[in-house]
Amino acid sequence: MKLAVTGKGGTGKTTIAGLLARFFADDGFRVLAVDADPDANLASAIGLPEDQARAIVPISQRRRLIKERTGAQPGRPGQMFKVNPTVSDIADAYAVDHRGIKLLVMGGIQTGGAGCACPENTLLRNLLSEIILNRDEVVIVDMEAGIEHLGRATSRAIDLMIIVVEPGSRSLDTAETIMRLAREIGVSSFGIVGNKIRNEEEKRWLEARFPGDKILGMVSDRDIIRESDLNRIALADRLDDDLRKEFGAIYRACKSARPAR
Ligand SMILES: Nc1ncnc2c1ncn2[C@@H]1O[C@H](COP(=O)(O)OP(=O)(O)OP(=O)(O)O)[C@@H](O)[C@H]1O
Ligand SMILES: [Mg+2]
Repeated sequence: MKLAVTGKGGTGKTTIAGLLARFFADDGFRVLAVDADPDANLASAIGLPEDQARAIVPISQRRRLIKERTGAQPGRPGQMFKVNPTVSDIADAYAVDHRGIKLLVMGGIQTGGAGCACPENTLLRNLLSEIILNRDEVVIVDMEAGIEHLGRATSRAIDLMIIVVEPGSRSLDTAETIMRLAREIGVSSFGIVGNKIRNEEEKRWLEARFPGDKILGMVSDRDIIRESDLNRIALADRLDDDLRKEFGAIYRACKSARPAR
């Protein structure tokens, strides 16, 4: 099962990705959680202790590994390098284990412009692609809103692209753009999580904007979520009955997504 979590900045992608990872893991699945957001913080969302989270070196900053695999120095343009570096051992070698979840922090993949054709980007893109195509665990990728670095083959192997939306037109516009771009590169299945819902009116507002079968679920706006983030406490360890019900519904909807291939 390959899940990618996207959406406008700040909508709750990392919160949702972290909780899903914990729900799958607590249910007995092997989980590989991939932090593909340059501003990585999935570690705290899955509840990794702060000292361990701080010690993680993202793949994008592992200069020796990048040099060894691509044959070129990272950050230096104009060099020859391998476009198909060996990456299949990287997830197991560099992921950190926490409560049944393997967490792999990728670091930033630059998109567009000159940043695209450098050795570190090539390594990261190949790695993400290899993970989505070949791993047999539940893979949950916390992405940024940009999905341009997903290639076609990779996109087609995503079983469900989860788009986190807040009640608001800007978040909605971003969701629509993501969906259009993702469809163009071959993503076939989408699910919406409505997050930070403050009342019935906001819930209905979102419900009116997506087909019912596309909505995986909604999460209320709750101080406990913000406070968990502020105090670096794993939200999954503090869920009350209401939140457990909301997330449980989202988890079950994700679990029953039809495989892409
Ligand atoms: N349902 C909610 N109720 C209250 N606060 C929430 C809720 N969901 C997320 N938040 C808070 O909103 C903030 C942003 O959440 P999060 O980091 O998960 O978003 P993101 O989409 O990953 O952001 P970024 O684009 O910066 O990566 C955090 O402080 C988080 O605790
Ligand atoms: Mg995030």
